[in-house]
Amino acid sequence: MDKFIIEKSGPLTGEVQVGGSKNACLPLMAAALLTDQPLVLENVPDLVDVRTMTQVLENLGVRVTREPGRILLDASRVLGYRAPYDLVRQMRASYYVLGPLIARNGRAEVSLPGGCAIGQRAIDLHLKGLSMLGADIAITRGYIYTRAGRLKGCRINLSGPFGSSVGATINVMLAAVLARGVTVIDAAAREPEIEDLAGMLSAMGAGIEGAGSGTIRIKGVDHLHGASYKVIPDRIETGTLAAAAAITGGDVLINGCRPEHLQAVLDVLAEAGARIETGPERIRITSQLPLRPFSLGTEPYPGFPTDLQAQFCALATQAEGTSRVTETIFENRFMHVPELIRLGARIQVIGNTVAIEGPVKLSSAPVMASDLRASAALVLAALVADGTSEINRIYHLDRGYDQLEVKLSRLGAKILRVSA
Ligand code: EPU
Repeated sequence: MDKFIIEKSGPLTGEVQVGGSKNACLPLMAAALLTDQPLVLENVPDLVDVRTMTQVLENLGVRVTREPGRILLDASRVLGYRAPYDLVRQMRASYYVLGPLIARNGRAEVSLPGGCAIGQRAIDLHLKGLSMLGADIAITRGYIYTRAGRLKGCRINLSGPFGSSVGATINVMLAAVLARGVTVIDAAAREPEIEDLAGMLSAMGAGIEGAGSGTIRIKGVDHLHGASYKVIPDRIETGTLAAAAAITGGDVLINGCRPEHLQAVLDVLAEAGARIETGPERIRITSQLPLRPFSLGTEPYPGFPTDLQAQFCALATQAEGTSRVTETIFENRFMHVPELIRLGARIQVIGNTVAIEGPVKLSSAPVMASDLRASAALVLAALVADGTSEINRIYHLDRGYDQLEVKLSRLGAKILRVSA
């Protein structure tokens, strides 16, 4: 099992290139199931989650050809209808095959994903949406069994107890594009990844309006065709790199990103005292320590993303005063806190808020990554911790960051991957 060895590094400086978005790429790959013509995706990151989705699709009969930065998906013969537990338990997003399989083949059997390290993660809204489109759904022995004739468009409200659901919006979109008639999704998620999916489905011949707003209107079509499409840059990788620049008092130019997807994040960085300059597809971040304290609460897009909450907890340890971070999307997303405390952070958890006192002199310790974004938070903290830190279980990080250690090294970080 690989681990990172990280030494205290000075200010990060230089230029770095952001890769394609994991959370945009996974549904785009699942969309290949909707057509018998080839789909080509560009700007595809090299991630464990992308490989898992590849396996899920290959298991269904899709031919997948991978080249550096590019993936070709050919679902001319979709013979299977089952996503087994072994794959779904590795990656929840495997359930994106549900919508397209029902729409194209009228049958899907997908393992229930179960909970995960950050929360219970219900899928009731996915099932509600698909059943309203006409799918018969039964859950037995840990599997979702669905059958359907031609789906029929309708009006679906996808608001849940924690706001809109990104995943449910995606699954319903992936089904509704081949339904008869018009589907209107109210309380749709507005994340850039939803817009990206709509962009590609439109390129495949779908009729979609309103993606990126709270109401999406989809006019179903009989067939979709192949397309070639470029995945948007990863806004969470961008925010993580920006936080790395800020926490080390660095000066970093992030290229190939979309600053407009990160406004809430850039606002918090500015509140923390960092200087932000944005241009087309780039962000320059310049920071001096100590930072100023800040407050943030996670929210659905365009609010501050939950996927950067852990990294900003690490950042707050270097701000002078008390910062407050509130998590509203997931009920258990503070697993990084005890590990940050092992590095010397002063953090108090009060319900769904943490109060972080800074600046503290962090000191190295072996720590354990509990999930993808928590791993990134530990990497950031280790960059400023005295001595040499060891971060274990970085297979979590490899699910969603493409060569993070290489990118950070080029900026001057002392970080090494060691295979145990
Ligand atoms: N929820 C329900 N019912 C549902 C679906 C969701 O109650 O049917 C709840 C969830 O339990 C959660 C909230 O609604 O409390 C939001 O969940 P959402 O469905 O929006 O999340 P997701 O689609 O499962 C995606 C990303 C996550 C990201 C969230 C929120 C992918 C593959 N995953 O998850 O990314 O945190 O949206 O933005 O796109 C990550 O990349 O590290 C990650 C966890």
